[in-house]
Amino acid sequence: MKIEEHKTSSSEKYYLELHRPQFHFTPEANWMNDPNGMVYYEGEYHLFYQYHPHDTIWGPMHWGHAVSKDLIHWEHLPIALSPDENGAIFSGSAVVDWHDSTEFFNGESGLVAIFTHSDQYPGSDRPRQRQSLAYSTDKGRTWNMYKGNPILSDIKITDFRDPKVFWHENTKTWIMILAASNHVRIYTSQNLKTWEFASEFGSKSGSHAGVWECPDLFELPADGKNENKKWVMIVSIGNEAAYAEGSRTQYFIGDFDGSTFTNDNPEEMILWLDHGRDNYAGVTWSDVPAKDGRRIFIGWMSNWKYANETPTKVWRSAMTLPRELKLVTTNDGARLSQTPITELESLREGNTKLENSIINENAASVLSNLKGKAFELRAEFELDTASEFGFKVRMSKDEKTIIGYNVNEKKLFIDRQSSGEASFNSFFACNHSAILEPIQNRIKMLIFVDWSSVEVFANNGELVMTDLIFPDSNSQGLEVFAVDGNVKLTSLDFYDLKSCWRKK
Ligand code: FRU
Repeated sequence: MKIEEHKTSSSEKYYLELHRPQFHFTPEANWMNDPNGMVYYEGEYHLFYQYHPHDTIWGPMHWGHAVSKDLIHWEHLPIALSPDENGAIFSGSAVVDWHDSTEFFNGESGLVAIFTHSDQYPGSDRPRQRQSLAYSTDKGRTWNMYKGNPILSDIKITDFRDPKVFWHENTKTWIMILAASNHVRIYTSQNLKTWEFASEFGSKSGSHAGVWECPDLFELPADGKNENKKWVMIVSIGNEAAYAEGSRTQYFIGDFDGSTFTNDNPEEMILWLDHGRDNYAGVTWSDVPAKDGRRIFIGWMSNWKYANETPTKVWRSAMTLPRELKLVTTNDGARLSQTPITELESLREGNTKLENSIINENAASVLSNLKGKAFELRAEFELDTASEFGFKVRMSKDEKTIIGYNVNEKKLFIDRQSSGEASFNSFFACNHSAILEPIQNRIKMLIFVDWSSVEVFANNGELVMTDLIFPDSNSQGLEVFAVDGNVKLTSLDFYDLKSCWRKK
């Protein structure tokens, strides 16, 4: 569908299509994949994204663009970057060039996008992926391609893409990390235009269940202590036919000295950023002001296994909720935790509370006065005799999505086998799980349900599962359940969530 056609539809119908997310980012029309160029500048968060403006399936990539003051309410802006003589515009990042190191800005500051130009080697169908620059002197409203593009290429490596750039204060150098087939490469620069190879990482580390894509690298205080900082590297891995999980995202924890990353953990250790099926190609915002200090992540809420087939019409794909990343010490060592940004609280409407309810097989109706298609649920359970417990959301006679905890196996799971429309791809209907240790005999679940997604942040975001679902719009029931005994629901908060796209 053409965007223009969609925009002329009456405003009461805006963002009301079946499955249209109400508090997640989606383009008005057509195809979207990875988040790109995320940068904060002069009071605005910019979100660019892989965009095909002429169809609802992947095609020649552009950078779509939106801005927000709170990461929740977005203003759609015209396409920022379109294919040119160097090819289509693949994923990449953006930074504020505060001191005009590029000399694009006449001594002032401005925005620079660093992205992959994608075409073919002349006279062949071998993909050619080269890094390029574009810059904006008007807060991202218009963009100029740098005349010297491309600025970095490597004829030996075919998959050579997705540059993420940041300023490394200790060495006063720009750092670029990019995906190079089965590893990442790190380059350094003084002016963003000429780059020197510094190191590579990962050909023997972590998961290689797919091609490496969309890396990120940043520093975080461990347990909030600034004197104890660690570096985190995020790496997405592409879909391979052999793995039911499809495309997913891993991370590493270690040190970075301005040229080399060293992994704290054994090579074979795999740390998954999200144990659901639909969080891919996520990276973090640049230049969030120090007085805010958050490291804010957003991912593409889909999976290359079926992304082109999901049952939506006008648009296709959403982003995850923006999440704050933290490093926390767990019994297994340092791990990333994720919490939805607190700005989301502005969408809350009404609050239903429950305390110290014993849930068992006779208590299915405890939440019978609650229902919804877009809501937030905060719950804490104290383990007792029940072998399994949790919530059924987006329920009707025929449909349900189960978010549960299996006590004996110590596993949190999402079962979307009966969640709704799933016939578009045989891998979609599934039940998947991940190990979660109770904390002092308790399990916490923070759940966000939207018109076509479920995001579960367990035990303060130490374990996260993000899944798409495509229920009927009448499937709005909500139930708390326990199997084979009791569990105590020590607290529950339910909030309806308003749309971030319409006034009402
Ligand atoms: C990840 C990815 C990137 C690439 C982009 C193309 O989803 O494959 O590696 O730059 O999508 O749209």
